[in-house]
Order: sequence, then C-alpha cells, then structure tokens
Amino acid sequence: MEQIIEIRSLSKNYGDFQALFDVSLGIEKGTIFGLLGPNGAGKSTLIRVLSCQSRPTSGHAIIAGLDVVSRKKDVLSIIGVVPQENSFYDDLTVNENLAYFGSLYRIPGSEIKKRNSNILSMLRLVEKTNSRAGTLSGGMKTRLNIACALVHKPRVLILDEPSVGLDPVSRQALWDTIREVNREGTTILITTHYMQEADALCDRILIMNRGKIVVQGRPGELKDAAGEKVLSITSSPGNYGIIKSGLESIKAIRSCIISDTGLKITLGEEIPVHDIFEVFQTHGEKILGVESSNPSLEDVFIHAAGEAWH
Ligand SMILES: Nc1ncnc2c1ncn2[C@@H]1O[C@H](COP(=O)(O)OP(=O)(O)OP(=O)(O)O)[C@@H](O)[C@H]1O
Ligand SMILES: [Mg+2]
Repeated sequence: MEQIIEIRSLSKNYGDFQALFDVSLGIEKGTIFGLLGPNGAGKSTLIRVLSCQSRPTSGHAIIAGLDVVSRKKDVLSIIGVVPQENSFYDDLTVNENLAYFGSLYRIPGSEIKKRNSNILSMLRLVEKTNSRAGTLSGGMKTRLNIACALVHKPRVLILDEPSVGLDPVSRQALWDTIREVNREGTTILITTHYMQEADALCDRILIMNRGKIVVQGRPGELKDAAGEKVLSITSSPGNYGIIKSGLESIKAIRSCIISDTGLKITLGEEIPVHDIFEVFQTHGEKILGVESSNPSLEDVFIHAAGEAWH
C-alpha cells in the first residue's frame, strides 16, 4: 500500500523543551489513522508540523511526496485541516463561509457552487445553507468546520479532537461523516481522547506519550496484545494504592491500575486466583465484587500511557 504521509525521525523543540523525540511513522493512503495519547503527549505538535504551522527542529514530514517545509504551498493545497476551534465566520451564512474558503484556494466560481452543494449534502447542512453560521447548533458547527476544510478537495483531512463537546448522537453523526469523506478517497488523520471513537473509526491507531511513540497497530491487534482478560475488583476498605503494589509483584499480572470503582488488572491466559486473593487478605481487604471482561482500547491506552511514565 502507498504511504501518503511519511514522517522520518521528526523532533520538535520549543526552546529547550523537547515535545517530539525522533518520531517515525507512515500512514497508508485511503485509511483512517487515529493519533492518541494523554494530555501533552505531542499530538497537536505533530499535527501542527504536518499542517505547515510549525517547523520541525529536525527530521522530515512528507505528504504525497511533498516535504512540509520546502513545499509548504503545495502541501497546503492538498491537505484540509480542521482545528479544534471553529475556523468559519459566525456572521457569514453557511454558503458564504464555503464560498469564502473556496476563494482562498482560488477555485473558480462555477466549480465552487457544484462542489459546495455536494459538501453540504454530505455534511447534512443543506437546510442551513442560508443560515448565519453563528446560529447553528454545536454539532452543526462542527460539521461546518469540517465542510470548510473540504472545499478544495484535499487528499488528506486532518482533524484535531473534532468530537469534543458533542452529545453521543452528534458524535455518531460525526463518525458517519468522517467515514463518508474517507469513502470518497480522502485519507483521515484524527486525534481523540475518546477510545470508543478510535475503536469505531480507525483502521490503525498510534498511542504516543511525552513525545514518543509507545505502540501502534490495528485496534483489534492492540486489544489482543494487551492481554486475555481484565478483572475489575472492588474491595473494602479500599486501600487500593497498597494492594496495587502487592498485585504488581505477581508475575502473571501485566498491569494493574486504580479505576473509578476499584482495581483493574490485565492478565494473560493464566489467572493466578490464589495469589490475587492472598494479596487482598494480607492487607485486610474484603473483596466486594469481581468482574471479568475482555481488554478494551481504553485498557490498552492506560497501559501504554502508564508504561511510559515508569
Ligand atoms: N508553543 C509552545 N511553546 C512551548 N511548549 C509548547 C508549545 N506548544 C506545546 N508545548 C508543549 O509541548 C508538549 C506537547 O503539547 P501538545 O499540545 O502537542 O500536546 P497534545 O498531545 O496535543 O495534548 P492535549 O491532549 O492536551 O491536546 C506539552 O508539554 C506542551 O506544553
Ligand atoms: Mg492537543
């Protein structure tokens, strides 16, 4: 498969703070690629470099064969960027906004009209064509923000946390929109903090932390690699910090984290029931509940983020 984005040994420093360390990765043409990681991981920094808003300190980023530094103008003509803040004008109508963004790319008027009506129907904004952008609902504004990034038919669409603040229904609708844009042949790069979103949408995901790649692969692969089972255990009085250290010394336990309700343990095939109960007993903890589940992408994420902190 052809790689439409190639990042080679990319580093980025802000003064003497290093935000990206020697990052290399490839994104295949036509795929939906999810960039995940805890706050401050370097996701937006990477996106700013890819969208020519910030220059790398060293290394290269190449989109469709074009270097983002030396061929900036050409790169900007083939990528669409959906920033976290809306980029349209509240006082203009939906249609006027699209026409304005089209004019920035010097697209001829007749072509803009045709293109815009396609975009409006794809993003389900036809009814709002002549409404002022400022009067749209939050979900519609998100869709208009995406529409503005599509007027020049980009080959790559980059979205930085597009689903923040959307209700579950609008979020589902956003996923449908992204899938549809992707079906038209556009490669998608998206950052998100919603694991369910990454799982539902992305062909491949990459988890980074503190400027470094921790793990990447297909969501299914990553879940399989995380372990066979996850046990969620609740106990009383619930001194989870102490129990956690005890559990971490059991060899079969791959990771142990404190969750909202208790402890979450990721295991391989073997479940060392006796050893686990012994740790709780030793610390005078009464087990109140045990639930078993398959690893989710959230477990993968917490494991990956946690590992890099050690
Ligand atoms: N302009 C800047 N000057 C100095 N430091 C910066 C600048 N921009 C980002 N950083 C630092 O670089 C690191 C990575 O920031 P970045 O915004 O890329 O993280 P992120 O993964 O997008 O996080 P979030 O999930 O919170 O959006 C952080 O430690 C941040 O403080
Ligand atoms: Mg960010």
